[in-house]
Amino acid sequence: MYDIASFKIKKDPVILGLESSCDETAAAVIRGRKLLSSEIISSATEQSKYGGVVPEIASRAHTEAVDEVVLRALKSANVTVNELDAVAVTYGAGLLGALLVGLSFAKSLAYSLNIPLVAVNHIRGHLAAAYLVDKNLKPPFVTLLASGGHTAILHTESYTEFSVLGGTCDDAAGEAFDKVARVLSLPYPGGVNVERLALGGENKIKLPQALVKNSDRMQFSYSGLKTAVINHCHNAEQKGEKFNPADVACSFQHAAVDPLVKKTVECAKKLGVSTVTAGGGVIANGYLRSALSEACKAANLKLVLPEKGFCTDNAAMIAAEGLIQYNACNFAQLNINAKAQIPLK
Ligand code: KG4
Ligand code: ZN
Repeated sequence: MYDIASFKIKKDPVILGLESSCDETAAAVIRGRKLLSSEIISSATEQSKYGGVVPEIASRAHTEAVDEVVLRALKSANVTVNELDAVAVTYGAGLLGALLVGLSFAKSLAYSLNIPLVAVNHIRGHLAAAYLVDKNLKPPFVTLLASGGHTAILHTESYTEFSVLGGTCDDAAGEAFDKVARVLSLPYPGGVNVERLALGGENKIKLPQALVKNSDRMQFSYSGLKTAVINHCHNAEQKGEKFNPADVACSFQHAAVDPLVKKTVECAKKLGVSTVTAGGGVIANGYLRSALSEACKAANLKLVLPEKGFCTDNAAMIAAEGLIQYNACNFAQLNINAKAQIPLK
């Protein structure tokens, strides 16, 4: 019998993390807050033929990759399956068929080893990535979260609780990067290609900043910025004029990123919090990383920034959030289902 009430908490548990919410099949092993391994098998190259993620292709790719990626993670961590104390897995948000591959695998493993199954909210995983960077990091801190589905500034008050200080009222930052990539005919995945193109451009096109002015609450908005980029390109084409795509990419990047950086620092200062962290795919953006580092330095704030590969989807962050939930005895039953959507709060 699988009885979650019988599980005892261990100090520095060995946790296998599993992530399969989109096009990355990932597995990682941690011991306490020490990262032992992190492996990813991605179907992004196959997906790029279609200009985005095709859910059925993603699900099939996960099915083919999941055994292999777990074996690799255990091997590079030098850990045997019997040494695992818990399995942490993304149960949402994401593509249902894709999630189910990781979740079913994790359930079977937890059941066969009779160890806790920890169900992880993908977004909380992005937030937890910072705990592996700095072993001494502890709440409170302010986090800039920017991924393909979310853009928000959060106040992490304890290991398990956070409040939302502000967010986007329409598109997420990553979504805007992806849409602008399409307008500029750049291949999937969009964000990193916009960044590459921007390196050769200048911030000289006037675009609206991704911030709602005169709003009582702190709100970001990406749809106006995205439309301004589309209009700029189309107007030039209609007049038979050439536009410089690198300048468009660079100007967009500034308009998309600068308000996020500015507001994150302002929030930390206002709350009297001395540490800032960041997570989500957009945090892999080189311009954002240097702008945030400079702004935190100037404001005398400590910045805990996960390496680029731990900002985009990975399983180390899932294991890290798994550890938090494990320590809170938050174990899942084996009948837990995958969820396509989970609200941020
Ligand atoms: O966190 P993530 O890997 O997946 C989600 O949970 O959504 O974020 C993916 C998003 C995509 O929209 C992608 O274009 C964006 O992060 N992204 C970037 C960069 N790398 C990934 N955006 C800007 N610059 C990058 N280097
Ligand atoms: Zn993600």
